[in-house]
Amino acid sequence: MVTINKKAMIFLDRNENQYGPSPACFKVLQNSNEETLNIYSRDFTRGIKSLLSERLAHDFGTEEKKILLGYGSEDILKQAVQCYLNKGEKIMIPSYSWWYYKKIADDAEGISIQYPIVEGVDTFYYDIEGMIEVYNEQKPKLILISSPNNPTGNRLETEQLNFVLDKMKDSIVVLDEAYLLFDETYKTDPVGLVNRFPNLIIIRTFSKYYALAGIRTGFAFLGDNHDRISLLSTRYLGFNRLSEKIAIAALDSPEYYNSISMKMASDMEMLYNELNQWPGFTAYRSFANFILVKIPSEIKDPLKKYLTERNMIVKFMNEEGLDRHIRITIGTHPQNCMLLKLIRFFMCKEIKHELVQGV
Ligand SMILES: Cc1ncc(COP(=O)(O)O)c(C=O)c1O
Repeated sequence: MVTINKKAMIFLDRNENQYGPSPACFKVLQNSNEETLNIYSRDFTRGIKSLLSERLAHDFGTEEKKILLGYGSEDILKQAVQCYLNKGEKIMIPSYSWWYYKKIADDAEGISIQYPIVEGVDTFYYDIEGMIEVYNEQKPKLILISSPNNPTGNRLETEQLNFVLDKMKDSIVVLDEAYLLFDETYKTDPVGLVNRFPNLIIIRTFSKYYALAGIRTGFAFLGDNHDRISLLSTRYLGFNRLSEKIAIAALDSPEYYNSISMKMASDMEMLYNELNQWPGFTAYRSFANFILVKIPSEIKDPLKKYLTERNMIVKFMNEEGLDRHIRITIGTHPQNCMLLKLIRFFMCKEIKHELVQGV
């Protein structure tokens, strides 16, 4: 019997990090004083945007002016599109992508052109040739690439990324790496990349890996061609002083984040293995903190109802080509086990029903 606490909704639908931020982040809140709240930072007198951009520049070995800060990575994505894309100009976005890409392109009155992400056996992947073909045909002003991509979970490997960037030198490329850090073994060199490709902007966030979606803090590495967005986005009176301190506390807590991401990686494997065993289910390999799963279309509505009534919220997709799919955020271990248990109960009930009906 699955016991349910009516009040505790479990939200595994928005790719939030359910483990929460490191204890050091809460200490910042406890220790914050009046000055943090009522005084502007004076960082501009030192010629920098914020303690946080200074810290990131130091950690990544680059100049502070090459780091942009924003109100989440959403804000930087939107600023980049608003800054560079004029009405009627073309922007390339992946065929399966975060719905918001199309929305910000529409808001700028740009023309969005899709390039292919395709389904393989147990993973989606970027069709590199198809991507370059669309690029050469369309000659877009801007390209959005997401790696790992939401909702498919696949990423571009370093060689593929270099190859693609080499072919796209005539456009502005925005690389969204919101989910990059969940694979602790994957090493990248964002500063090396933006140094090599002046047209490139690489966007990251504190929302996902660092479990700080609420402080709305994102950052970007800028290639040399991006003075315009840098001027547009830099704020003379500084950044959110509380957010910058909390983000720095997160950067100071690598052991904590390493340990929770290892737990998530192990649970991702557990979900992948178990979900792939149900008839009609395909769980895809993912490098992010979520997993995409194709389910039989006839159980989509009943499963949604069953889970929702038990306070378990996962994302039931409706996009063209992904309308038999659910996207599950990897939660804490007990949350993941609870989800699997509910799906087990639901599927056993379904299979029993089919046997009785003689299907
Ligand atoms: C691919 C992708 N990029 C960016 C974001 C925005 O994250 P934030 O604005 O919290 O940094 C999201 C949010 O879910 C996302 O899925």
